[in-house]
Amino acid sequence: MCGIVGYLGTKNAAEVIVDGLSKLEYRGYDSAGIAVCSEGGLEIRKFKGRLAVLAEDIEKNEMKGNLGIGHTRWATHGEPSDTNSHPHFNKDKTIAVVHNGIIENYMELKEELMADGVEFLSQTDTEVIPHLVDKYYEGNLLDAVYKTVERLRGAYALGVVCKDAPDELVAVRKDSPLIAGIGEGENFVASDIPALLKYTRKVYFLENGEVVHIKGTDLKIYDAERNPVEKEIFDVTWDVEAASKGGFDCFMAKEIHEQPEGIKNTLERRLDESGKIVLDSIKMKKEDLEKINKIYIVACGTAYHAGLLGKKALEAFLNVPVITDIASEFRYNDNFVDENSLVILVSQSGETADTLAVLRDSKAKGARILAVTNVVGSSIAREADDVFYTWAGPEIAVASTKAYTTQIVSLYMIALNFALEKGSIKEDYYMYMIEKMKTLPEGVQSILDNQDKIKEIAQKIVDKEHAFFLGRGIDYALAMEGSLKLKEVSYIHAEAFAAGELKHGTIALIEEGTPVISIATQEKLFEKMVSNMQEVTARGAYVVAIAQEHNKGVEKVADDVIYIPNSDDMLSPVMAVVPMQLLSYYVSTLRGLDVDKPRNLAKSVTVE
Ligand code: F6R
Repeated sequence: MCGIVGYLGTKNAAEVIVDGLSKLEYRGYDSAGIAVCSEGGLEIRKFKGRLAVLAEDIEKNEMKGNLGIGHTRWATHGEPSDTNSHPHFNKDKTIAVVHNGIIENYMELKEELMADGVEFLSQTDTEVIPHLVDKYYEGNLLDAVYKTVERLRGAYALGVVCKDAPDELVAVRKDSPLIAGIGEGENFVASDIPALLKYTRKVYFLENGEVVHIKGTDLKIYDAERNPVEKEIFDVTWDVEAASKGGFDCFMAKEIHEQPEGIKNTLERRLDESGKIVLDSIKMKKEDLEKINKIYIVACGTAYHAGLLGKKALEAFLNVPVITDIASEFRYNDNFVDENSLVILVSQSGETADTLAVLRDSKAKGARILAVTNVVGSSIAREADDVFYTWAGPEIAVASTKAYTTQIVSLYMIALNFALEKGSIKEDYYMYMIEKMKTLPEGVQSILDNQDKIKEIAQKIVDKEHAFFLGRGIDYALAMEGSLKLKEVSYIHAEAFAAGELKHGTIALIEEGTPVISIATQEKLFEKMVSNMQEVTARGAYVVAIAQEHNKGVEKVADDVIYIPNSDDMLSPVMAVVPMQLLSYYVSTLRGLDVDKPRNLAKSVTVE
């Protein structure tokens, strides 16, 4: 994620930028920085931590100047630190750049620049950009930026200023959001509307490849071929709060809708030219893998549910048993972890106390620790031997959604690469799975585009006291996540059961109208699930089935059916969870609850 703001006008640029960044902290908050250009030169300040750290510094020691760029960071390459914060700059500190996105070919650009004698200060992908602008700058900033972006592969929204062009700001967009704002004698660029609403409601939405050139009071937009672009001004009518939620009524809804992008980022940005997965910060080699005779996946809550799916993938691809456990249990059990164990910890925040305790304990026992986390520089990321980041972007709503789907995708990617390395799967199958995984963003999107049915179902269960979730195999793991989501945001008592266990007691709970969400996405278990649905229907349950599109037979036993696109059985959970997330959100909204901040819960559980 990350948020950027740029300003050129008559006001104090630092004030405008810090204010704008404060409305973008939902896009990232691990560090913040600013570059201001004035007659005195280019001044850059940047700090690890919340924006408040930067704001306090500026309050103590004012930054003068009417041109500047700023950034609030959500790290992808390089842990949060003052040095890794943006803006990044060239050798002489004459050019400063803020960037939101990922530069995929930064390693090769870095090598080229290093061969030219450039010294790099940070571990970021972004730092190549100011050095490239510097390389191409011959007195015309716009020219230099055009030449630079020709060299970049990946996603970027960039803001660039130069000491020698004190009345110019250049910004570019490709696959990362960017808007330009038009004020009275002043102009802006930003990642999102809330940053500008205090100053202007007139904005341009930029398309991929477009470049904004602000010079003096003039703002011009060009396309990738440098032809001038005439755009319509959009008049924003939202308030700041609605705008920071991207027009959604809460962050949970927004984050549910960000899943196609999160999955795409996590997967596709890691594919090399041959289409294989690059496990960037996992340093484990074949010999390390061969040494391992026990694999554990340990986590809490939703992350644990993702771990259950990771287990299925590792077992299927690597052909070895995997133990998945809840961190608060695992740490006090006889867990048999030793120096031949691989312990995979899954955590969105990277700070969960029980998960961290398992990490430290397992490390002390000599195990290899692999973290799957969303937060670069978090405690779990720092203390693990290997890290794989889910590139979901910041998750603000307490109920985890996009972190979960990206965790599943991450665990599958790890499992596939380990299996290929070990030789337990063939390359054809490996490539087939990657191709299938590439269709997930589209599959999730198609569910998001067809929500009416889910809304109707939410109406039918909003007044219920209990709800049950059934599934078998992979779908049982998914049922656990569905039930957790519903209970935490709607306060309806919800439980997940392995459908085959019904007859052993649970079926006594089924009454007339009891909602039973039945997940039946697994081909080999489909018939069995249909029988289980029949059993509860016969006792009066209101059955909602979630099934693959081609399994229309389910309509005979279910009252309502939500279809997901046909897919490989292993991958269907990534799609099948989405209707359950939406259902929970709608029920919570219909009940008039605070969807983003359910009672008694905190986003990050840093106490035992
Ligand atoms: C539920 C939820 C929690 C977290 C759990 C672990 O929606 O968000 O169950 O999954 O507290 O948190 P992390 O992943 O930060 O370790």
